[in-house]
Amino acid sequence: MRILFVASEVHPLIKTGGLADVAGHLPPALLAQGEDIRIVMPAYRAALQGLEQIEVVAELFLLGAAQPVEILQSILPGTAVPIYLVRCPQYFDREGGPYADSEGNDWTDNAARFTLFARAVVELAQNRAALEWQPDLVHCNDWQTGLVPALLKREADAPKTLFTIHNLAYQGLFSWQTFQSLQLPRDFWGMEAMEFYGHFSFMKGGLVYADHLTTVSPQYAEEILTPEYGYGLEGLLRSRVDDLSGILNGVEYEIWNPEHDEAIAVNYGVESLALKAENKRALQHEYRLDDEPDKPLIAYVGRLADQKGVDLILSGLPSMVEHLGMQVLLLGSGRRDLEEALWVVGDRYPGQVATYVGFSEDRVHRIKAGADMFLMPSRFEPCGLNQIYSLRYGTVPIVRAVGGLMDTVVDASSDAVEKGVATGFHFSSANAGDMLYCVGRACELYWDQPDLWRKLMINGMRQDFSWQQGAKHYCELYRQIVGREKA
Ligand code: ADP
Ligand code: GLC
Repeated sequence: MRILFVASEVHPLIKTGGLADVAGHLPPALLAQGEDIRIVMPAYRAALQGLEQIEVVAELFLLGAAQPVEILQSILPGTAVPIYLVRCPQYFDREGGPYADSEGNDWTDNAARFTLFARAVVELAQNRAALEWQPDLVHCNDWQTGLVPALLKREADAPKTLFTIHNLAYQGLFSWQTFQSLQLPRDFWGMEAMEFYGHFSFMKGGLVYADHLTTVSPQYAEEILTPEYGYGLEGLLRSRVDDLSGILNGVEYEIWNPEHDEAIAVNYGVESLALKAENKRALQHEYRLDDEPDKPLIAYVGRLADQKGVDLILSGLPSMVEHLGMQVLLLGSGRRDLEEALWVVGDRYPGQVATYVGFSEDRVHRIKAGADMFLMPSRFEPCGLNQIYSLRYGTVPIVRAVGGLMDTVVDASSDAVEKGVATGFHFSSANAGDMLYCVGRACELYWDQPDLWRKLMINGMRQDFSWQQGAKHYCELYRQIVGREKA
């Protein structure tokens, strides 16, 4: 089948979070399943810098663009997947991230940028860009692509659409004035369409108009039907429950595997697990943590956002150091106040706590390899990839039992430990007390039952969350969606 995969960030070209990992790794897995899959993304300056051979394959005249928009073609590095880039310098040729400047402030013209992107995608999808290729299905991801299903619904002979929700918390909400400036069909503003409590919602474009909806874990697909996790969209989602399913994300073990990870101090695997200690020593050295091989070293890596519960880590941190005798390592970037809090706490316990504020993939690899435990106290988590990466590195995840965290980590209840199926630890409420109690449980096993702890690590390392499985599910789903019409 011909699939056009639409995303606003794609690893290794540009990345702010897990969406880029998925957009960079699922398409090659789909190609391996025999799909004719091509990616389309905006031609950000940073993305173009990561590509070698780029060809201009079409020129489009689009509403909202002062100049002709070029469609560039290349190959996603390290894969055989063709990638199109929508080149519109006025919107995408700038320093900074895909959605925000280097200070973290959202670009003020994001609505216009992703409207233009959607218009270009529609031209590709309708084979009006002289590529002689029309997809059977357009697979959209998150709010930045939400207008695509909405605009395609107005076209004759349009491909089917699938909209994947990676994170319902980011909806792409804009004012009525902004909506007016976008020159979109007037009826897009309406409760049954994309109006959302007085705002214009890009996310609703996907939720209302796509032929099918998915989320990135089965558990999250259920959670978003409730007021607690639905962000006011639970009613709409419930009305579409027959068209909604959850497919668990996969990961790319070519990149996330301690056996051949080039970023880490010493490679290791299940058969050479003792070498993980070398990575711990190197990590302690890198972050000026005291050289204490036996102390449990717990880490957090990720966006500094409300979602991730970093505030719980910060309030539980004194107890982890003073009462549980742990070393703590935190790395992330995002909300300014949390970044500052990381700086402060980094100085408070010399030799026992270290922090790094910034975005660095290499550091993340070394932390996975060197830490003993990985903490994810997320308030909600559509899937989460960090805990899956940690499993492969024998770094035991301690997670809040929510969303994809629940679907990927098996709690070390006495029953699960006995059966030999446990891979980590769960706690249920998003508060520092519950989190600490759970971290304490982990420490107890770590100190008192080293054999069981080792078993837990090995169980985790043997889990297989490769994309092969997930890609098969997407292939089946694509066929169902396209077949619906033909049947
Ligand atoms: P989310 O997409 O919600 O941020 P995930 O766990 O799905 O969470 O994926 C996050 C991805 O982004 C992981 O690959 C993680 O290592 C990476 N990441 C997040 N923050 C940073 C950072 N500051 N530096 C490097 N990589 C990061
Ligand atoms: C989002 C979610 C995260 C998920 C990622 C990739 O950023 O927050 O849980 O793993 O998308 O689907």
